[in-house]
Amino acid sequence: MTIKLVRARTAGQHHLLPLLLHLSPAILLLLLPCSASASAVVTHLPGFDGPLPFYLETGYVGVEEETGAELFYYFVESERSPGTDPVLLWLTGGPGCSGFSGLVFEVGPLKFVLEPYDGILPRLVYNPYSWSKIASIIFLDSPVGAGFSYARDPKGYNVGDISSSLQVVTFLNKWFSDHPSYISNPFYIGGSSYAGMVVPVIAEYISEGNEQRKQQKINLKGYIVGNPLTGSPLIDSNSRIPYAHGVGIISDQLYEAAVENCKGDYVSPANKMCEGILNTINSLISEVDQGYILDDKCVIVAQKPMKDDVVRDRFLSEEDIHLEPSPHPTVNCFSYRYYLSNVWANKNKTRDVLRIKQGTIGEWVRCIKGFPYTFDVPSSIEYQFNLTTKGYRALVISGDHDIMVPFLGTQAWIRSLNFSVVDDWRAWHVDGQCAGFTIAYANQMTFATVKGGGHTAVSYRPKQGFAMAQRWMDGKPL
Ligand SMILES: *[C@@H]1O[C@H](CO)[C@@H](O)[C@H](O)[C@H]1NC(C)=O
Ligand SMILES: *[C@@H]1O[C@H](CO)[C@@H](O)[C@H](O)[C@H]1NC(C)=O
Ligand SMILES: *[C@@H]1O[C@H](CO)[C@@H](O)[C@H](O)[C@H]1NC(C)=O
Repeated sequence: MTIKLVRARTAGQHHLLPLLLHLSPAILLLLLPCSASASAVVTHLPGFDGPLPFYLETGYVGVEEETGAELFYYFVESERSPGTDPVLLWLTGGPGCSGFSGLVFEVGPLKFVLEPYDGILPRLVYNPYSWSKIASIIFLDSPVGAGFSYARDPKGYNVGDISSSLQVVTFLNKWFSDHPSYISNPFYIGGSSYAGMVVPVIAEYISEGNEQRKQQKINLKGYIVGNPLTGSPLIDSNSRIPYAHGVGIISDQLYEAAVENCKGDYVSPANKMCEGILNTINSLISEVDQGYILDDKCVIVAQKPMKDDVVRDRFLSEEDIHLEPSPHPTVNCFSYRYYLSNVWANKNKTRDVLRIKQGTIGEWVRCIKGFPYTFDVPSSIEYQFNLTTKGYRALVISGDHDIMVPFLGTQAWIRSLNFSVVDDWRAWHVDGQCAGFTIAYANQMTFATVKGGGHTAVSYRPKQGFAMAQRWMDGKPL
């Protein structure tokens, strides 16, 4: 707060200070001048045959004047009715993974051809299950340091849950000013994994900004989180043990011993007995791919260390688990697509076409690791409780084959909100087949599993994921 006020002063707004004092930090940031935005329309991409069959724009938006921090985005316009379709801001987890992941591995209109890299250029094709068939989507490299986002002053990389969320609000406000035709469209925020921590925080700041009428109104309708972290290890990490038991990774005996000795806490073992049991359990869990327990377990994809390689519990990077040193995974691995993205994004031609500013970042990697990030939101659950009781819609998705953030924990914290059930647990279907299970609560809170989905559920079940998004955004039951 203090820092923000100093910033206001340096921006020559002394006379505004008494007024600014009672505003939330979100609003303060919005009032501050930042460097101009730059954007470009991209009609062709290296590795994609012919002109893109959708509108793609890339650009930078300045979010912090004194460090020169700029967030990079990819904007894909809805392929249906951009004038009325929702606008979706999609974030990737980590923290520190690029929004490009959302564009090519999750909900966007592009995907890599999964073939051995020919040493020239990975190929891209159109993803027919892109959510851009029903919504315009902004894929954002946030926080600063992720993807192509950068700061001139290294201090700009010192962000956390709160400050990066405020920067996203600054980004949105400027982006909508530059794209006024979208300001009245329904607006949603979504993301998977660690994005589950910040999506509700960003939504809360937007909601406050709207209530205080100090910014142009962003037509926020709700949010989507997939296999989301909540910040509470006793919810997310704890549920790995009953999940591992349920899917047959650990034996009945081992599970019973854990229940008996660990007293409900599988994160900080209370005694030596519990510790020993958890070591055995963790070594069994480490036999399988963490993001999708049925997949081959593959090697880590290069990550870019920033400063010290700080390892923290809550630092959840999709590849953290695979530790064998190896140049790249084999083509049968899910993570082979991550390897292809690292190759593709580092081609000079790619950088030129995306209009990446020279000298802003060195090597692009899908996820940065060990950067000085502050985990300063203890839990996102209260934010979600507040948002949904204020009338914002929520869709919480769980790929049911993920052991990083298993559906059991997600289901448990949703229940803890004590909302009444309005549509009881049932299957939802695509093409006459069960695509997962769902339950709808009061306050427009919907929970749905994706059968056969992994940590980023939609990546594993694109057709089902698209059907779910379409029904939900159209306000229909799943
Ligand atoms: C790519 O661009 C960088 C920076 O401009 C330059 O140093 C490098 O030689 C280029 N590589 C190729 C293969 O052109
Ligand atoms: C949730 O709402 C309550 C009541 O208005 C408020 O006191 C609390 O600070 C809010 N929590 C968050 C995380 O926004
Ligand atoms: C839900 O109900 C339980 C039991 O009555 C209570 O302890 C808890 O505080 C309630 N949670 C909320 C979010 O109101």
